[in-house]
Amino acid sequence: MENTSLIRLDHVTRRYEEAGVLRTIFEDVSITFARGEFAVLLGRSGSGKSTLLNLIGGIDEPTAGDVFIDGRNITRMGDEERTLFRRLHIGFVFQAFNLIPTLTVRENVVLPLELVGRTAAATSRVRAAELIEQVGLSHRIDAFPDRLSGGEQQRVAIARALINNPLVVLADEPTGNLDTDTGARVLDLLDTLTRKAGRNLVMVTHSEEVVGVADRVMRLKDGKII
Ligand SMILES: Nc1ncnc2c1ncn2[C@@H]1O[C@H](COP(=O)(O)OP(=O)(O)OP(=O)(O)O)[C@@H](O)[C@H]1O
Ligand SMILES: [Mg+2]
Repeated sequence: MENTSLIRLDHVTRRYEEAGVLRTIFEDVSITFARGEFAVLLGRSGSGKSTLLNLIGGIDEPTAGDVFIDGRNITRMGDEERTLFRRLHIGFVFQAFNLIPTLTVRENVVLPLELVGRTAAATSRVRAAELIEQVGLSHRIDAFPDRLSGGEQQRVAIARALINNPLVVLADEPTGNLDTDTGARVLDLLDTLTRKAGRNLVMVTHSEEVVGVADRVMRLKDGKII
């Protein structure tokens, strides 16, 4: 069963304790994602969308239940093992781009390779340059992020998310800070570089355009996926 789905949440519950009071964000969520699927996650602000994405990505841990990625139970891994697994197999794209301001475009894109010890300088430079070309930024390869437009910064973030050739790309409102046209181009690029390359893409969004492109639409409401 684990071989047929790339991402599987098995009876996952997430609660937070605040000032001694337990709050349930979602409860007993079981979902699977087929290989190469582009899924969209909708829901009101505070409904737990980012929390769910962070659980899939191993940034956060469930209160109960298990998360499987490519048949591996990441919930049962130790912190170090999970961090390495995440860096190798999961790419994240955030609304706020989160580029490192003191690094150039190329250095930002190469960084995840260095974090997993893939530092063979020549090959990593070539791979970074290829990805930067795919996102249309070869002419800006030595620029610093503050010299780039929002759409350009997000394209760098996409290249960075893909440098380790991840199985899964998780995107949290990746077009939220972009105008409609730029957002549409970023969406198209994400789709091309993920689903069309056989990777899974799970995206949190408010954009109706994204909903139209996705294979599957999920809504978080009152702690359940509907
Ligand atoms: N570390 C934490 N400790 C306590 N509560 C938290 C923590 N992180 C998130 N929450 C709460 O969990 C709920 C869900 O948060 P989450 O960020 O997943 O919402 P969201 O659906 O992504 O919202 P938005 O659309 O505004 O980004 C919120 O009520 C939030 O306050
Ligand atoms: Mg959020």
